[in-house]
Amino acid sequence: MAKLRMAVVGAGAIGRAHAEVIAAGNVAELAAIVDPTDAGRAVAVHFGVPWFVDQDALLAAGTVDAAIVATPNQTHLPVSLAFIERGIPVLVEKPIASTLAEARALTAAAEKAGVAVLVGHHRRHNPIARRARDLVRSGTLGRLTSVSVLYTFLKPDSYFELDWRRRAGGGPVLINLIHEIDLIRFICGEIESVQAVTSNAVRGFEVEDSAAVILRLAGGALVTVNVSDTAVAPWSWDMATRESQHYPQLPVPVNSHYLSGTAASLTLPQLDLWRYPGKAGWHEPIARETVPVERADPYAEQIRHLCAVARGEEQPVISAADGTRTLEATLAVHEAARIGAPVALSYGQ
Ligand SMILES: NC(=O)c1ccc[n+]([C@@H]2O[C@H](COP(=O)([O-])OP(=O)(O)OC[C@H]3O[C@@H](n4cnc5c(N)ncnc54)[C@H](O)[C@@H]3O)[C@@H](O)[C@H]2O)c1
Repeated sequence: MAKLRMAVVGAGAIGRAHAEVIAAGNVAELAAIVDPTDAGRAVAVHFGVPWFVDQDALLAAGTVDAAIVATPNQTHLPVSLAFIERGIPVLVEKPIASTLAEARALTAAAEKAGVAVLVGHHRRHNPIARRARDLVRSGTLGRLTSVSVLYTFLKPDSYFELDWRRRAGGGPVLINLIHEIDLIRFICGEIESVQAVTSNAVRGFEVEDSAAVILRLAGGALVTVNVSDTAVAPWSWDMATRESQHYPQLPVPVNSHYLSGTAASLTLPQLDLWRYPGKAGWHEPIARETVPVERADPYAEQIRHLCAVARGEEQPVISAADGTRTLEATLAVHEAARIGAPVALSYGQ
């Protein structure tokens, strides 16, 4: 089967990572790099592919089969629209857009044109997340009652040299927590309401450095998420799974997610399943088994999926409409913290 010709738009941190994955794999061909900077041109030279200053120049020069939009959030809408208008499927990085209005405009344009748009919530492509979803959805845990998530890690001081990262919107809620919100929706089901407290007590920047969040899910399960980017800790999905090779090997396996139900509990990412082999009750012996899973790189699987979607062989694992719901739930964290009360989610209904 011929390789799909893929353009990467935005050759920064994640754009370069996507280019590496495409170049290393055998499902797609890196066809172009689009990024107006000298650094962007250097990335094109590195991969030996044509370089364009913007998506219009790329589209004028000839067509590509699919595009990855890995530019800053506020450009996701206009850049993606250029491809949608040409009927070219897009993988747009998370968050789908910087505002709900933009996210809805992108979703409407994609639906009207009948063009597939995927959102880069790459964790959905991790076999661990898929196994957990299967276990929860098949009822192995019984009725889900409680989920605890720790997302604590340390961003070094140098990270904050860029001004926007010290400002509202540049913090762990929109950059990191959004991954948890999407993972919870994917594994456990829809979020109905959000409560939150945020804090900037450690760094004192305008942006939060920590947040404590309570989610109520459809079906009644309660979720707590503690996120902090100023804590010395290994308890994060990113460090525990090493989805990205930027994270070092931990000396021992750790978990970041604890899912409890009326029949069993599950930890992630180690997939330890705890349940009673005999009589159930807190004074009875409880047993642990580890659910087997074949580990795989979610970023590579995401590219394979994009190719399959572009060929019409698969439906998006996360569509524009779905990515908009994740954005709505994440933005509600800031709103709930601001008003000091729960925010009910309507998802545009
Ligand atoms: N899924 C993930 O794991 C993940 C990880 C990091 C970032 N992201 C997301 O990816 C996006 C990019 O983040 P980043 O950390 O790589 O940012 P970055 O600042 O490192 O890179 C952005 C690049 O886009 C280029 N650019 C800006 N405007 C452009 C335009 N109009 N056309 C073409 N290129 C343009 C910049 O020159 C820069 O090279 C963000 O939406 C971010 O939230 C996702």
